Amino acid sequence: MSESGGLYVHLLPAWMPAGAVRGGLAVVIDVLRATSVIATALRHGCEAVIPCQEIDEARAVAARLPEGACLLGGERGGLRIEGFDLGNSPSEYSEARCRGRTLVLTTTNGTRAVRACLEAREVFAAGFVNLAATAQRLRQLWRARPGEAIHLVCAGTDGEPSLEDTLLAGALALTLSHRGDSAIPLQNDAARLAAAAAPRAYAQLPSLLAEGLGGRNLKALGLEDDIQTAARVDSMPIVAVLRPGEPSAAFRVG
Ligand code: MLT
Repeated sequence: MSESGGLYVHLLPAWMPAGAVRGGLAVVIDVLRATSVIATALRHGCEAVIPCQEIDEARAVAARLPEGACLLGGERGGLRIEGFDLGNSPSEYSEARCRGRTLVLTTTNGTRAVRACLEAREVFAAGFVNLAATAQRLRQLWRARPGEAIHLVCAGTDGEPSLEDTLLAGALALTLSHRGDSAIPLQNDAARLAAAAAPRAYAQLPSLLAEGLGGRNLKALGLEDDIQTAARVDSMPIVAVLRPGEPSAAFRVG
């Protein structure tokens, strides 16, 4: 699909036009909690994070890795999957657990959103925890190839757009669309809508994240600390990038 260069927001992967990301840049956003986990695990020393759509696929990928080199993580219904090492709480991904290991991760919405982006040239994983680092990299890439399409792809929650993902997409859109000659134009109304909501996000972040469906689900599971962790802006200052063309596609610090 040929599109004008600039920034697009997709409030759900399913709402993205077929072929939209082909050859461009994609940013997967699942603030609560998959992309916050990916950034945390990489910041704390994981060498790679391999996203898997299904539980059996994750088990099979993990089984092929050398013993002791792998962490199997993720959730279904918000809870750790039976037999997995870790769940989907960013705080579980400590330096002691992560350093030198490969994380194989499967989550309900986040890792599936990654799958929807694999036609892109590069796929980034963004949370509030790595907002500035991700924005800076996108701006550098735009300067090097102005005219490229950048797609911010929100994972949403159970087939619905989510407040927290939309707010982060808006924060990125707002940041990237301001700044003189390297301002990136907003190309669709979802991008304009998200950017319009972003100033409120900065003012009231943890409480807004707690208000959305994803936040309420976490509270019901007693996992409200994860909301606070995911709201710590720039606490994990790394760029998480997956290059789909590479043999075992995984997020790495890049
Ligand atoms: C997801 O991928 O659906 C989320 O990360 C769910 C969760 O918060 O556990």
